[in-house]
Amino acid sequence: MSRKALIAANWKMFKTPAEAKAFVDAFLPLVAGHDRDKIALFPSPVLLPTVIAAAKGSKVAIGAQNIHFAEEGAFTGETSVGQLKAVGGTHTLIGHSERRQYFGETDEIVNKKLHTALKHGLVPVVCVGEVLAERESGKTADVLKKQIAGAFAGITAEAAAPIVIAYEPVWAIGTGKTATPEIAVDAHKIIRAEVAKLLGPAVAAGIRILYGGSVKPDNAKTLIGQEEIDGALVGGASLKPDSFAAIVKY
Ligand code: 13P
Repeated sequence: MSRKALIAANWKMFKTPAEAKAFVDAFLPLVAGHDRDKIALFPSPVLLPTVIAAAKGSKVAIGAQNIHFAEEGAFTGETSVGQLKAVGGTHTLIGHSERRQYFGETDEIVNKKLHTALKHGLVPVVCVGEVLAERESGKTADVLKKQIAGAFAGITAEAAAPIVIAYEPVWAIGTGKTATPEIAVDAHKIIRAEVAKLLGPAVAAGIRILYGGSVKPDNAKTLIGQEEIDGALVGGASLKPDSFAAIVKY
């Protein structure tokens, strides 16, 4: 089954509205007519209206880096799915390793967020990945299976179609150390097999699994070019229009 790749920019906590608009204005002409892959930008919540307005009329999708699982309520500092949708956001990251590491996000929270995102028709990008100590002690497969099983608890095969998974080995994020294509492909196979176990082979065959972790213009092709790798989630190299466009057009 052919899966249309998704190339996504996670801007993390970077850019002002003016910088975000300048990015989109410069980026759109660089990818005009690019139809091979889906493109998405994930800016901070305060940038969303600016980025959505700037990208209007293009095929570039815009999403949040995080959502809360509640519909609304007294959750200071959080963003609801309803708020995201009201400004035109269509996608959301869930369970990025920085959320897990610095903000205590557990598999259980990731699961609740996934349920909320699907209920409201967002495209969720669920992030998983092992830390260095887990890889070095041979626990990578166990960690990935546990994260996937935790995230997917209670999700039915019927509901799962929009889900995207991002495999982001934590030791490759922001370090300049990229997983080799072999390492990434192995991990993707483990993830896909776990999805097949939970939701059946058809869902597993259709689900997109992105690679993230020091993706750059010069390594994009060797990674995204792999049959098992259905796109990329890019941090640092997505902050400049020319570099992100070069990755999109690998
Ligand atoms: P880098 O591309 O900067 O390693 O970040 C990857 C990432 O965390 C994307 O979500």
